[in-house]
Amino acid sequence: MRLEPPEKVSVEELKIDVREVEPLLQAPPMNIPHFPDAMVKMKTKEGKEQILYIREAKLEEAPLMMEHIKKYMDVDHDFYDIVGARVYAEILGWYRQRLKDPYHLVGLIDGLWVGLANGRLMNEDVNISLHTMALTRGGRIGAVMYYAKAYYGFEILKNKEWWATYESYNGWMRWGLGMAQPSYPWPEYQHELGGARVYYVTKKYWDSAVKKYIQQMVGADLDFNVPDSVKKANAVMRAPDEITV
Ligand SMILES: CC(C)(COP(=O)(O)OP(=O)(O)OC[C@H]1O[C@@H](n2cnc3c(N)ncnc32)[C@H](O)[C@@H]1OP(=O)(O)O)[C@@H](O)C(=O)NCCC(=O)NCCS
Repeated sequence: MRLEPPEKVSVEELKIDVREVEPLLQAPPMNIPHFPDAMVKMKTKEGKEQILYIREAKLEEAPLMMEHIKKYMDVDHDFYDIVGARVYAEILGWYRQRLKDPYHLVGLIDGLWVGLANGRLMNEDVNISLHTMALTRGGRIGAVMYYAKAYYGFEILKNKEWWATYESYNGWMRWGLGMAQPSYPWPEYQHELGGARVYYVTKKYWDSAVKKYIQQMVGADLDFNVPDSVKKANAVMRAPDEITV
């Protein structure tokens, strides 16, 4: 856009350092506590014990994560493609600092990356759940990853509300139905993921009912006393060699 200046000016061109533009494009981060490393003792479908180690992803892992996640854009069942595309954009948004207060939790079993759960904070009160992905199916890994991020929101970040939505039947079954989440009137309220319904959990509902979800789902709780042996076994995150979902 151009307009003639309403006054004589001594310098007609202003030079702007992009470093001065950046604060306008990037949201200043809220200083939020980190998710402490956790583990959950789980069983495979065959009954074998396994330990799911959950921690925050590190920014330097974003390229590895994107490299792997982009493969799901071609998986045209169970909505992995749309979730893959959106998760790719969310990791990139975090990496390029174009997402407000994002968090990404990764689930590992002996270093193998098996699950992801992410979201972002709208403000101190409202936590926007973005996506959860099981990179290995059948072990309820997705269910636990979602619980871990909701736990992070309510118990560590002290959020008052959780806003979710669902692209897939599996996601809706797991948490929309599985946590009996009510939804706000639609279309008055729309989730940022495509304007779909906002399903929500309040802190009161979390305390009274949803907190028990993980016990009912896998018969164990999040354990924040992670022994060194588990940390060591998961010291290096590696993406699955193949897509098996
Ligand atoms: C939604 C999601 C995270 C749930 O993960 P999960 O809790 O680990 O559960 P799964 O999807 O593996 O399995 C769901 C159920 O169907 C069964 N199942 C379905 N497809 C299966 C498959 N291909 N292999 C093995 N089991 C399968 C599981 O055994 C499980 O049964 P259960 O309820 O008795 O445990 C996962 O389905 C996923 O990543 N989907 C694609 C991305 C997505 O939709 N994300 C959520 C967006 S709303």
